[in-house]
Amino acid sequence: MRAVGAEIDGLTRLYARERMPGKLEGTVALVTGASSGIGHDTAIALAAQGAAIAAVGRRKDRLDELIGEVGTKGVAIEGDVVRQGAEIVERAVGELGRLDILVNNAGVMLLGPIEDAPVEEWRRMLEVNVSGLLEVTHAAIPHLLKAVESSPRKVADIVNVSSVAGRISREGSGVYSLTKSGVGAFSESLRQELTTRYVRVSLIEPGVTLSRRALFSNHSR
Ligand SMILES: NC(=O)c1ccc[n+]([C@@H]2O[C@H](COP(=O)([O-])OP(=O)(O)OC[C@H]3O[C@@H](n4cnc5c(N)ncnc54)[C@H](OP(=O)(O)O)[C@@H]3O)[C@@H](O)[C@H]2O)c1
Repeated sequence: MRAVGAEIDGLTRLYARERMPGKLEGTVALVTGASSGIGHDTAIALAAQGAAIAAVGRRKDRLDELIGEVGTKGVAIEGDVVRQGAEIVERAVGELGRLDILVNNAGVMLLGPIEDAPVEEWRRMLEVNVSGLLEVTHAAIPHLLKAVESSPRKVADIVNVSSVAGRISREGSGVYSLTKSGVGAFSESLRQELTTRYVRVSLIEPGVTLSRRALFSNHSR
């Protein structure tokens, strides 16, 4: 597992560094939650295909490290999707000139029984997983529609990161599942509204996923 992972990792870094022409040359991708885990690795994969990256999260040091690493144009945007969704999008477009791909990945998973749960944890999941995603998406739509007009790809993309928990509720995942099934429902409506205007809406529903950092070290993130 580690050997295969190392090979994939090496190739991804090589493509990013050598700037081989990729399918996403000339595009800009905004990735929320890019400071760790799936978002971090997604940003690297998009950059490897030539996209300029707007990397969003609250841990600026991690975002700076990522932008230093990707080898394409990019900007680290320190921000909270809950309170600064629109600001984050405007900053990305202001710095990088356009927006072709939005990856709504920022999320929190706080598991535990419903009885006696700390309701603050529920609030946090609802805010980040649902309200944050909605706000960023709302602000991004006009820019994505505009990008379609000038993109050589002739499409733009919204990629929403949900979870298998959005389909299957288990003991201890009640509120997390609620937020992720909500992301699925919203994505379906949005797809019906935007596909005919060439903005594609994708829903990713991962099971347990190890990030590159977790794969190559003893860190969990
Ligand atoms: N890993 C899995 O097994 C798995 C499985 C299914 C679904 N998912 C989903 O995949 C997504 C990523 O998960 P992950 O495991 O990669 O998580 P992670 O490593 O904990 O990363 C979460 C990211 O979200 C960002 N974030 C959290 N709150 C934020 C806020 N208020 N504003 C801006 N950014 C915020 C964090 O950045 P800062 O802390 O720097 O703000 C971090 O970069 C989540 O939506 C999760 O529900 C993960």
